[in-house]
Amino acid sequence: MWFLSSALCVLALGRRAHSTQQILSDANNGVTLPQTWEVLGPFAMGARELGVDPLSAYGGFEAIPFSESDTYPSELADGGLVKWRTVETNSDQSVGPVDFDNVRWSFNQDPFGWTSLHHATYFRGNFTVPRSGVFLVNFDHVVSYKIDDKAYVGNVYGFSHASGTAIYLERGVHKIYVCAVMDVRIFGGQVPPKTVFTGKFQPVDLDTSARNILIMNDDTVTPELVDGKLATPYFSLTVMNAYVPNPFSSVHLSKTKSSGSNSGRIGEVLENANDIADLAVGLHEGSDIGWVQILDLSAAIPVIFSLKLAPGQLYPLPIDVDFDLEEKNGAVLTSIHFQVQFYDLYTKERFTVKSAEFTLEKRVWGEPYKLTFLDYDNSVHYAMALPPKKPCSVVGEANCPIVLALHGAGVEASSPFWTEAYKQQDYAWILFPTGRTPWGFDWHGPSNMNVDAAIHTLTHLHGVPQELRGNFGINPDKLIYTGHSNGGQGAWWMSSHYPDRALAAIPASGYLKIQFYTPYYMRLGDAYTDPVFRAIMESSIAENDIDMYAANMAGVPILARTGGNDDNVPPMNTRRIVRLVNEWNRNPNSIHLSEVSAQGHWFTGIMNDDILQSFLDEHLDPLNNPGWQHPPLPEAFTISTLNPGSTGSKGGIRILQLEVPFRLATIRVHRVEQHWVLNTTNVRRFGFLKDDRAHISSWEIDGMAFAEPPKIGPSYLKIDGETEWKPVPDLLWISEERYWSTYGPAMQILNHPFIIVVPSQPTVISAATYYRNAQLIATSWYIYGRGGTQIIRDVDVRDGIAAKYHLIVLGGPKDNAFTRRRETEGGAKMVKFLESGGYQIDTKKYEAEGTGMLFLAPSPTRTLMGMYITGIDELGFKRAVWTIPFRTGLMVPDYVVVGDEYGDPATGWTAGDGNPFGGAGTKGSGGVFAAGYWGNL
Ligand SMILES: *[C@@H]1O[C@H](CO)[C@@H](O)[C@H](O)[C@H]1NC(C)=O
Ligand SMILES: *[C@@H]1O[C@H](CO)[C@@H](O)[C@H](O)[C@H]1NC(C)=O
Repeated sequence: MWFLSSALCVLALGRRAHSTQQILSDANNGVTLPQTWEVLGPFAMGARELGVDPLSAYGGFEAIPFSESDTYPSELADGGLVKWRTVETNSDQSVGPVDFDNVRWSFNQDPFGWTSLHHATYFRGNFTVPRSGVFLVNFDHVVSYKIDDKAYVGNVYGFSHASGTAIYLERGVHKIYVCAVMDVRIFGGQVPPKTVFTGKFQPVDLDTSARNILIMNDDTVTPELVDGKLATPYFSLTVMNAYVPNPFSSVHLSKTKSSGSNSGRIGEVLENANDIADLAVGLHEGSDIGWVQILDLSAAIPVIFSLKLAPGQLYPLPIDVDFDLEEKNGAVLTSIHFQVQFYDLYTKERFTVKSAEFTLEKRVWGEPYKLTFLDYDNSVHYAMALPPKKPCSVVGEANCPIVLALHGAGVEASSPFWTEAYKQQDYAWILFPTGRTPWGFDWHGPSNMNVDAAIHTLTHLHGVPQELRGNFGINPDKLIYTGHSNGGQGAWWMSSHYPDRALAAIPASGYLKIQFYTPYYMRLGDAYTDPVFRAIMESSIAENDIDMYAANMAGVPILARTGGNDDNVPPMNTRRIVRLVNEWNRNPNSIHLSEVSAQGHWFTGIMNDDILQSFLDEHLDPLNNPGWQHPPLPEAFTISTLNPGSTGSKGGIRILQLEVPFRLATIRVHRVEQHWVLNTTNVRRFGFLKDDRAHISSWEIDGMAFAEPPKIGPSYLKIDGETEWKPVPDLLWISEERYWSTYGPAMQILNHPFIIVVPSQPTVISAATYYRNAQLIATSWYIYGRGGTQIIRDVDVRDGIAAKYHLIVLGGPKDNAFTRRRETEGGAKMVKFLESGGYQIDTKKYEAEGTGMLFLAPSPTRTLMGMYITGIDELGFKRAVWTIPFRTGLMVPDYVVVGDEYGDPATGWTAGDGNPFGGAGTKGSGGVFAAGYWGNL
């Protein structure tokens, strides 16, 4: 909670604001998508696959000339060849679906299933900008798009929150490239598959009183009134600094003089926009042009560094409104607007920007209502809460359990469809978290952390009338995990990863792991990848394999639901997990499988019929379960994990480190009365937590006996190569070794507030490239996680910052002063930076042109991490940036080295033609030079 901008807010009480900010000009500077596209496809494409391009061997999509007759190989099409075609943009500015009449999709699907519907289609076209200026550019349903020579992140899930990038476009003709990927998870499994994307260019008027600031009024998170009072004080207001340098203004003189070019005339394609842009920003290097600061007027808040927005940056401002406000003003609060004061760091001027007026939803106690809260990364998110009908306090001292209801993909948690799907319970709260966005991260990682923050918020009983607070208290460790579809998968995931918090679980229509929704076996890269290396890559996502974690659910009461005719998440998913858990329970009927015949993915009653209610009653009705006890522990059970970073305890035992990280670790436990026998595989360190069900008077582990009870809290360690387990009395090891928050893999960088560190005086790659990519990372985090991050210069990273944030550090030691510093401190000791700009890992050197690397390394205090993203040159750097896993299912271990046989994973084609000497173009995981995991130390 490092800044709250309460002092920045001006509230309108019970009246409308005089004016709202018109953020985008609709002046006649209309830019539309190309009318006609040159299209090549469809090509086979794996699920969540990066870095492949079936055209790279022939020069790459950008370079291949359009032709009526040329053909290119594609196994999807009859005859194995596809041709160019042209496609017109639809009148609503959408593009597609393309009718590929030479593909027999159902015939292909019979043997190969859904994954054979996955495909990529390349589009390119020209569009005209009538007047130079800044545009907010937005593409939905593509992972990325490329304008002229730069790639930008798209809004692949079609989220409603802002996803645009501010781009300066010079008057004239520009090129646009799109690689549209049909993904069954997004477009469904229809035959023929239909891929449609949309694109929008909104001109930004910088000449208003708001200058370069856009307020994204549609992205606001607004609290609600319960019985006339604000339930929670947190608002989120998203602002964008739409200033992006005009790459031409400052260079025109020299450029026109030397080349005599008249770049920018209509009808001309800008060939060298990149060089010009770099020059322009180079001139601004180290200056404050375009930076704004949000003035923090409140002294009560610990500010580490004041909030600055870099050019092009989007930020969801967390705002805390004083609770007593309504009372002070004596008026009824019904709506609110904000005025944010900015300071332009270059012109040294202050200016104020106003938001729209937001009406506050009114609720009465007893209805579902919204709780807003500061999530772990200091952005404001919400969860819906439905209180119990009866006071839990009547049941002895007990606090209410929570039914944790996880929504499906694309569902807004606040929609009545979802909050009305469950029956209000007598003695349990129902909490409907968001997981940060309607898709989230499949309830793993940032979504799981968001759930924890929502539970924590609920414990404060915001919105509960004062006189009732004593009756509706909460026990955050008594959870019923439930959900539908992606949320059903989430309920399985939480039950198998955090089983000790479960009273019971009701997963409905859930899938078993991402590869069971969209199979991975047709990934193109596999064809070029050594099988053992493939396994290393796959280990980076296997911590989410519910089947491999099924043992952890032994003893948890489960009602598993599925529609017998569910053709979206087929019932085989549910049945398979049920079979596995029954095996681990050694009881063929331990799991209650409720398969409702003739029903599909969703049906009336799925989350609230009598079957479901009577199961809930077994665990929530105090007559059946007095005091809401956790289920008893099985006499024998197994604890499994691949990553201590995402696994809690079972029976009070938590695995903390593995001998070989990212390989399966297990502890088998056999309880003989109060004597416990533990046998381990691949466990280096574990600990006992307090668990009321565990009464251990003596125990043994791997044949070594302890006559006294285990120590609760400290860890037990078996040093590599030794056979003895020894207690470690303190937590000092977490500042010397990797622990749950730093265990990796790469995606774990998102599980803690992070900031992006750009070089102030780079020598190898231009400052403009670093800024643009920092902006890309910040925008990606906003799109995928509705998250906020800041961009700061290397020279501004003080120890306090490195002790508080994960850092995404851009640039090697020649460019980034922080990388340099960590290199001399030994902080990045696993990777040796070479004089050539390349890298050495162990004895192997990577120095080829176009090579980039992404790796995790400890922070100076070791309790946090840095993700270093560096390139031997600009192309290598960009390849590494696009490798950051912002979506689930992307395989990125602790480090990865990519080069000329790994396409720009976003657009595929910037890799050019791959390595022409014995190479087959870009090869996805087959083109990765090196990847793997660091050890524990
Ligand atoms: C785009 O412009 C180029 C000329 O720079 C032309 O060759 C190409 O055919 C145009 N593309 C389309 C789809 O019209
Ligand atoms: C643990 O291993 C011992 C042999 O070292 C074996 O006798 C025992 O059955 C094993 N117990 C469990 C719970 O696996």
